[in-house]
Amino acid sequence: MDLKSVPTRGRTLDYAAGIYDIFEPMLLFGKENEINTRLIDLLDIKNSHRILDIGCGTGLITKAISIYLNPDDGGLAIGIDAAGKMIQGARKKRESNRCKFEVMAAEELKFEDNSFDSVLSTLFFHHIQLELKQRAFAEAFRVLKPGGKMVISDMHIPTSFFGWLISHVSRWILFQPQIGENIRGVLPSLIKEAGFETPEIVCTYFGYISVFTTNKPL
Ligand SMILES: C[S@@+](CC[C@H](N)C(=O)[O-])C[C@H]1O[C@@H](n2cnc3c(N)ncnc32)[C@H](O)[C@@H]1O
Repeated sequence: MDLKSVPTRGRTLDYAAGIYDIFEPMLLFGKENEINTRLIDLLDIKNSHRILDIGCGTGLITKAISIYLNPDDGGLAIGIDAAGKMIQGARKKRESNRCKFEVMAAEELKFEDNSFDSVLSTLFFHHIQLELKQRAFAEAFRVLKPGGKMVISDMHIPTSFFGWLISHVSRWILFQPQIGENIRGVLPSLIKEAGFETPEIVCTYFGYISVFTTNKPL
């Protein structure tokens, strides 16, 4: 039976679930492994960590993270996505005793306060509008332990002409004003408003993706 999506005003990708694993490497120009390795490095993983992947899609990076975790020590990677079909695909291909997936909206997480050592999100925040961005960052803050790390990789102010072109073409071709918010540079201030330390941009990819790291203050 199909897993039901949860209601959200975010742009869910149920319709793309079947082809997402073919399509996503193209968006990242074949550098998916290199980028994922860098993001995983930034998480400072210990094998007992509980790590949340917000807007996980088919769970490629959730699974890659879980390899470093030991379930006997409590280590667990959990990917959430509002699209039932994405989670169904993720469970089928990638679930294990160290890697779980749940249908859930980022703006309404069903986890306890301070229950994750780190939080990651890749290419998700340009799928939700400003108010949901605020709510999703507030939820990430709530579920993260004090001192825990958050890594966000997403569209931000373009850093090259190529990045500018990709950002603006996608914003208009996809009719996605949420991308417009990202490329105007709203993410750092929203992260800070949610209570996190001032985020730092640690690297950029293709002129349109920026990687932010920050912590929940102790
Ligand atoms: C571009 S995909 C990114 C997937 C994956 N993180 C990656 O990097 O390949 C964005 C995902 O966000 C999900 N999404 C959209 N709105 C959401 C919401 N409010 N809560 C959780 N997931 C949502 C979509 O269903 C989609 O799977």
